[in-house]
Amino acid sequence: MQQPYWQVGYPTEYRALDEQHQEIDEKIGALEALLSGPESARAAALIADFRNTLEEHFLLEQRVMTTCKYPGLSHHVDVHDFIIRNVEVVTQMFSGEAMVGARARIVAHLQESLREDVAVDAAFKEFLDRRVGISALRA
Ligand SMILES: [Fe+2]
Ligand SMILES: [Fe+2]
Repeated sequence: MQQPYWQVGYPTEYRALDEQHQEIDEKIGALEALLSGPESARAAALIADFRNTLEEHFLLEQRVMTTCKYPGLSHHVDVHDFIIRNVEVVTQMFSGEAMVGARARIVAHLQESLREDVAVDAAFKEFLDRRVGISALRA
């Protein structure tokens, strides 16, 4: 398993968002462990839970970005939408006949989802760093 993204560095330094990144990464790890075993029904539930957590995270980010009048919001929402579509592909992979050979690809897809979000979040962090008085958001 790769090094967790939240250990590499917090992309926003905004506690609520960074804790969600950590939670998302931990869910990928739990799913990876589960996909190695026979409990496929529980794995399907974990994928659904992962998607819900990701959507909640994206909504919180977008609310914060709206509050901050972040100029990159529209692009960021596009990336979030792309990531959710990617997770839908993963869900279909899992429920399809090809699931047995797709376990490693499922985990790789979910890790890529988080990596893509963290990458665009870095631009938001740069924006926050340039703002005066934004540190109150990071409590
Ligand atoms: Fe994020
Ligand atoms: Fe994001």
